[in-house]
Amino acid sequence: MKILVIGSGAREHAICWKLKQSPALTELYCAPGNAGTARLGENLSIGSEEMGKLLDFAVSRQVDLTVVGPEAPLVGGLVDQFESAGLLVMGPSRAAAQLEGSKTFAKDFMRRHGIPTADYQTYTDPVAVDADLGRGRYRFPLVVKADGLAAGKGVFICPDLTSAQAAVNAVMRERQFGASGDRLVIEEFLQGEEASFMVFSDGRNYIPMVPSQDHKAVFDGDQGPNTGGMGAYSIDAILSPPTRDRVLREVIEPTIRGMAEEGTPFRGILYAGLMLTDSGAKVLEFNVRFGDPETQVVLPRLETDLLTILAGIARGDLSKIDIQWNSDAVVCVVVASGGYPGPYQKGKEIKGLEMAGEIRDTVVFHAGTAKRDGKTVSAGGRVLGITARAKSLDEAILRAYEGVNKVYFEGMYYRRDIAAKGLKKLTIDDL
Ligand SMILES: Nc1ncnc2c1ncn2[C@@H]1O[C@H](COP(=O)(O)OP(=O)(O)O)[C@@H](O)[C@H]1O
Ligand SMILES: [Mg+2]
Repeated sequence: MKILVIGSGAREHAICWKLKQSPALTELYCAPGNAGTARLGENLSIGSEEMGKLLDFAVSRQVDLTVVGPEAPLVGGLVDQFESAGLLVMGPSRAAAQLEGSKTFAKDFMRRHGIPTADYQTYTDPVAVDADLGRGRYRFPLVVKADGLAAGKGVFICPDLTSAQAAVNAVMRERQFGASGDRLVIEEFLQGEEASFMVFSDGRNYIPMVPSQDHKAVFDGDQGPNTGGMGAYSIDAILSPPTRDRVLREVIEPTIRGMAEEGTPFRGILYAGLMLTDSGAKVLEFNVRFGDPETQVVLPRLETDLLTILAGIARGDLSKIDIQWNSDAVVCVVVASGGYPGPYQKGKEIKGLEMAGEIRDTVVFHAGTAKRDGKTVSAGGRVLGITARAKSLDEAILRAYEGVNKVYFEGMYYRRDIAAKGLKKLTIDDL
């Protein structure tokens, strides 16, 4: 099969890496891709939001399956357009992508279907928010969220009234996220540890993936501003068996069923961002695509052909596919440009990629990288995701950092405590 993968991050590199192992793959294209995907297939100079060009390419080259990585083209209706043209495409329709594209849609959907999530109120008018804040309706901390896509920057944890008012102004009055500030959600602050849980869904059936945990904050100990994710790991112990069962029963099943009942069946990758609170797991948000960096640690545990699964989703039938996972631990340490998520420099030559890739069971996934004069250079905030797999979590951590120590570029930065939380889980479980 000829496959087109849309996107340019380490997530897309990981998807291409796994697809490349499929005996059914004949040609692999990535639009626009990065220096990592260029080694696995052909990069196209078409951006992930150039819908018309992507469609022309898929039609003229007779692409057999298109896999969409990022959220923006999904929310923009790429899947609907490709399907109208008779193409096979893996991802939710524009209507189903509202689960990620609109926080108010997602919250109201969860309320309709009794899915556990933080208490909330939605607003369309900043004056009404100010009034509710002013008359002491809320307790602090609280969380302010812009309604639409905001590239991970539209959520504010507000410890007091002043910060909440500032967040409302930024979203609704200054319109820092454009039309995403037409509406806003205020929600209860939830205490706990976060976990990411993804499932494959064909609209009716779903198959769970193994759980993972991201590290959003830029500094060790979860300090500093949020980023796109500074690293992740996957071990089964992230969700205890009873918690996992409850999430399937109380979150995943009602979501898949509810979307189908409402006439917008969810076909694609459903990602539940969970907060594991004292009173059970609650949904922080849904994403409608593979997580990044979660995918980098989940796919190395998949023992089944990814192409078969993704084609099954796109065709609307996963029922005959038996999916196997290994019980290994996988750790991904993100190597970023110094300064990220603030301003940073690009174009730094990256050395040691070959050496890092030679470490056993280690893959260097590229995020923001590009080729220049035959050299690999940094081209984004998150540059590499060094990913190692081992029988135990401590071995996987050691191996991933061994890989990190082999690569170098000027100003590189990474967290030193990726997956440390996972070790604590194991210690508790083993006692
Ligand atoms: N209700 C909440 N209580 C506590 N923390 C929250 C809450 N909602 C979001 N957060 C924090 O903010 C981060 C981003 O929120 P999320 O809803 O995932 O938005 P997005 O990923 O679109 O920026 C979460 O990963 C979590 O750390
Ligand atoms: Mg999130």
